Amino acid sequence: MNLTPDGLGTEAPRLTVIGTGYLGATHAVAMAALGYRVLGVDVDPQKVRDLSAGQVPFFEPGLPSLLGKAMATGRLSFTDSLQEAAEFGDVHFLCVGTPQRADGLGADLTYVEAALTGLAVHLRRPCVIAGKSTVPVGTARRLAQTVSDLAPAGAAAQLMWNPEFLREGFAVEDTLCPDRLVIGAADGGTATDLVARVYEPLTDRGCPLIRTDLETAELVKVAANSFLATKISFINAMAEVCEATGADVSVLANALSYDARIGGQFLKPGLGFGGGCLPKDIRAFMARTNELGVGQATAFLREVDDINRRRRRRTVDLVREVAGGDLTDVRVCALGAAFKPNSDDVRDAPALDVARMLVEEGALVSVFDPEAMDNARKVQPTLHYADGVGAAARGAEVVVLLTEWPQFRAIDPELLGHIVNAKRVVDGRHALDARSWSAAGWEYRALGRPTQVA
Ligand code: UDX
Repeated sequence: MNLTPDGLGTEAPRLTVIGTGYLGATHAVAMAALGYRVLGVDVDPQKVRDLSAGQVPFFEPGLPSLLGKAMATGRLSFTDSLQEAAEFGDVHFLCVGTPQRADGLGADLTYVEAALTGLAVHLRRPCVIAGKSTVPVGTARRLAQTVSDLAPAGAAAQLMWNPEFLREGFAVEDTLCPDRLVIGAADGGTATDLVARVYEPLTDRGCPLIRTDLETAELVKVAANSFLATKISFINAMAEVCEATGADVSVLANALSYDARIGGQFLKPGLGFGGGCLPKDIRAFMARTNELGVGQATAFLREVDDINRRRRRRTVDLVREVAGGDLTDVRVCALGAAFKPNSDDVRDAPALDVARMLVEEGALVSVFDPEAMDNARKVQPTLHYADGVGAAARGAEVVVLLTEWPQFRAIDPELLGHIVNAKRVVDGRHALDARSWSAAGWEYRALGRPTQVA
């Protein structure tokens, strides 16, 4: 993308983005790329320093170069001051995290509340706060009250909700070319008009914009993530049935995908979902519907979560079975740590969970991931990390693929066969070509696939 040096002119609303994690940093950079003047805000001074120096503090394809270009226009800067943000912005995008609470399934709203109250007390001129964080339904209405109680500008500071649907690994593309935009407000009034104006460069290109109330806007996000999680767990439930019958879930998923009503996306069987969104969002949704007295409506999500967690245990079972029934002192090469390829995010990563469980059973595990090594070391410091596929695989008695990075899919099974001690591979992501691995003399196994893949 080539950025216009002149931007959108002084008439365009000035934007702030509060919270510069995977979501906020991408949003700030993308909005500056569209021509807006943008101030990114974070409580972490190191993040502010990194971003100000043009460095993205996490792995996201395409973001570093777009950040560099945006910084060069002079339209993008970063601060740790909410007061500065309040004075600067016409629209404040709230992008802080809502992790799972330590004491239950619900969402921890500490960061949202801290950012919102910290900003609201400084709001002296008309502005809109556009919440993008994923929150339990009903939160936005409560926060709107907080803003009107605290903001010196009173009713001239308005809160609306604008959920974000970006996928890590495709964050830039998803922000600049989203499937849809959703904006919700209590009275459907001027707050949504201003935010709709901000998104005009996207809607002019044909992106659908859905206007709604606060509650529907909040719900769209959790409903979307619940649906996606359910689809993944559905195919993994079918994998369990395949395991009991000798059927092949890969062929089954492929056959289902030709039905246009079902489609092939998010129908990939394997180790299941992880990351900073899907697992915690379905749990927070269950917690919220229980509070609302409609817990039965989302009771199926408990099953979705259970099926998903069983995948991790079953992958360990399969590695043990392939190793001959006992993992004590068995050398295992674990390929992958990130929760999915094209990301360095290890939050609730199935890969790291499997590696940890293998170690608990006495296996000697060596982990390699192309991008997530630093983050993995922080959350699982006792695992052994290798500096490449070769180092991780040397002497291995089982190789287990846990994150389907393209470079792992491209491994030549002939060459890897010379490094390992025993040619046994467990494909936790149904990502390897079973035939070529078998042809190179490997015992190839994957959950939900028969021992001999046709
Ligand atoms: C998700 C949603 O896709 C996004 O819209 C939302 O804004 C945030 O949550 P993300 O967490 O980046 O995005 O990851 P996603 O690409 O959805 O993958 C989630 C997990 O599901 C990964 O662990 C992935 O490996 C797994 N997955 C995905 C499967 O196991 N099978 C599939 O078919 C698809």
